[in-house]
Amino acid sequence: MSKITAAITAVGGYVPDFVLTNKVLETMVETNDEWITTRTGIKERRILKEEGKGTSFLAIKAAENLIQKTGLDPKEIDLVIVCTATPDMKAAATAAYTATQIGAINAFSYDLEAACSSFLFGMSTAAAYIESGRYKKILLIGADKNSSFINYKDRATCIIFGDGAGAVLFEPNNEGLGLQDELLRSNGEGREFLQATYGGSSYPITEDTFKEGKHYVFQDGKTVFKNAVFNMADVAEKILKRNNLTNDDISWLAAHQANKRIIDATANRINLEEEKVMMNIQRYGNTTSATLPLLLFDYESKLKKGDKIVFAAFGGGFTWGSIYFKWAYNS
Ligand SMILES: CC(C)(COP(=O)(O)OP(=O)(O)OC[C@H]1O[C@@H](n2cnc3c(N)ncnc32)[C@H](O)[C@@H]1OP(=O)(O)O)[C@@H](O)C(=O)NCCC(=O)NCCS
Repeated sequence: MSKITAAITAVGGYVPDFVLTNKVLETMVETNDEWITTRTGIKERRILKEEGKGTSFLAIKAAENLIQKTGLDPKEIDLVIVCTATPDMKAAATAAYTATQIGAINAFSYDLEAACSSFLFGMSTAAAYIESGRYKKILLIGADKNSSFINYKDRATCIIFGDGAGAVLFEPNNEGLGLQDELLRSNGEGREFLQATYGGSSYPITEDTFKEGKHYVFQDGKTVFKNAVFNMADVAEKILKRNNLTNDDISWLAAHQANKRIIDATANRINLEEEKVMMNIQRYGNTTSATLPLLLFDYESKLKKGDKIVFAAFGGGFTWGSIYFKWAYNS
């Protein structure tokens, strides 16, 4: 009997309508379009403006897009995982609300959090359930409303992040397609360089910390940059090597969209031509858990059955990793 593998069989996505351009950011903080473009590759990002709407709004829209495109009956979904660093609220899982709203009434659901590596790690979780034979249809969503914890007076962070969501369906495959190998890592010593300190259980928000804006995201960009470049390139190179793959074998690099220079460095390390590097950072910025599924959403029409894709991500914590994947369908 052939081994069951875990394939992605459908993709959906959603970004909010409001576009925050570099030109508008020039009027908000001391920055300019040229600096942002050359240092990050970002031109604009999407922001969810409507009051009272959180990450679940984005997740639901992406899931609904997938359901609409494929005609999937949500009642058949076994599990909904929402990968996010910005849940709607504490204690109540964003995934539970999302699942109910999309009609996945027979599913159980939970959130998964590993900062910008959330979706990559979620792919591993979803695949493991499928490979074990325990579940047949898993909806894996990456969604973040980063604008909810960004200080729009801090030029070190507000130029980078945006809001968005992407969703994929994981199903069993008997042709050997889907997830082939993974190399996932973390190092907690990195957390001091990228975090939203106050608001978690170690440091509850007080009136003073609120006034000082300590609930917003802080990052030491240079240190994060160096670690991201080194580690993402390292795992991508290693996963290729141990699967006896060369650059010619690889159809696509789908790398977390945090900074174009980090993505380019990873592509260079594995000698991958520019045409094979998925890129949409110029339009969305860093959408944290949503970058990888939004790449699949934007590139879906170009993907062919059997395409070999290297996924790579790096995020707060620090967390990082790479997944080698075979695409399962032509759209
Ligand atoms: C944030 C980041 C773009 C900054 O780029 P950098 O090349 O490291 O820039 P630096 O922080 O060294 O700053 C260089 C100069 O630009 C200035 N600068 C910083 N932000 C600026 C901005 N938004 N606009 C204009 N100038 C800015 C700095 O003050 C500094 O000026 P100085 O040389 O006079 O001191 C980059 O470090 C980065 O992308 N880091 C990783 C971010 C990331 O991936 N985060 C998520 C992880 S998943």
